[in-house]
Amino acid sequence: MNDARNDQAAPQRLTIRRPDDWHLHLRDGAMLQAVAGETSRHFARAIIMPNLVPPVVRSRDAAAYRDRILAALPEAVVFEPLMTLYLTEASDPDDLRQGVADGLVRAVKLYPAGATTNSDSGVRDIEKVMPFLEAMAELGLPLCVHGEVTDPDIDIFDREAVFIERVLAPLRQRLPELRIVMEHVTTRNGLDFVRSQAQGMAATLTTHHLIINRNHLLVGGVRPHYYCLPVAKREEHRLALVEAATSGDARFFLGTDSAPHATHTKEAACGCAGIFTAPNTMSCLAHVFEAEAALDKLESFTSLNGPAFYGLPANESRLTLVKQSAPVEYPDQIPVEGDQSVTVFDPGFELFWAVKDAS
Ligand code: NCD
Ligand code: ZN
Repeated sequence: MNDARNDQAAPQRLTIRRPDDWHLHLRDGAMLQAVAGETSRHFARAIIMPNLVPPVVRSRDAAAYRDRILAALPEAVVFEPLMTLYLTEASDPDDLRQGVADGLVRAVKLYPAGATTNSDSGVRDIEKVMPFLEAMAELGLPLCVHGEVTDPDIDIFDREAVFIERVLAPLRQRLPELRIVMEHVTTRNGLDFVRSQAQGMAATLTTHHLIINRNHLLVGGVRPHYYCLPVAKREEHRLALVEAATSGDARFFLGTDSAPHATHTKEAACGCAGIFTAPNTMSCLAHVFEAEAALDKLESFTSLNGPAFYGLPANESRLTLVKQSAPVEYPDQIPVEGDQSVTVFDPGFELFWAVKDAS
């Protein structure tokens, strides 16, 4: 990407409404303790992924998990975890109704069984969850979808496109009232599908998919810290994602999919999928948007479009980014209790936009 350091015409300071993260993994236990502050430093709210072991299936699991998250936050931090339930073929619509009535459950997550980290309890047969999805449609509750098929015959780089054809398009036709977020979209096919829908459909885009393509992952040696699911695609897809993110189109918003794994579990013969972007996401995004001369669209992407889709007000508090002449310093590892650490995403270029004020 271009280094925009010397572009004197560009603004050097940007104040936006405080961002939200519409797709975040916080984990549990020592890992939760290690990473909770990294997101709450810059973000006001986040949609919390339920793929714990065991998964967050019932409302009472979500309430207990929310309490553990709140307990793990640094003192005096204001951060609202927006809880989700993990959809299984045994999920109970009455439990969902109660969780929504309590103001606890904000979305439900559909993982095709086996698609990604901790997704074994996910959905094998969409038919079995139709009554639950109908209840969601009645409640107006968004379904967050991990949009990849798991059919072993389908090439990993095609799994998103095939999911759209086989699962998403038929589901939209069958239950058009169901609000759907196609999460961490990685292909032009995904963007085009969202654009083709008149209403009730949006997509989140991650920080890393705006920056890396599959060459970054595989050329010159395999880079485990660039491995995530959905896997990064060709450059033409990355360019399409950047175009969508910086367009201001209200259907596209930030879901970082920041997904911490202990460094040694990624640097392994069978490394885990997930990229940890929480600490430097806002600096990375300001860089990407500036390179597109689209800094004026950053607030829509990080702070306005998401709340609008979820029917929530935008945050009243603000966040200020300042472009400095020296590179922003951030740790390359975040320590986790017990001698472990998590590797922070390396965008491959220096960052100059620093978050100065997140009040
Ligand atoms: C996520 C994780 O580690 O939980 N991994 C990833 O590569 N994104 C799961 C997911 O969102 O697919
Ligand atoms: Zn995720």
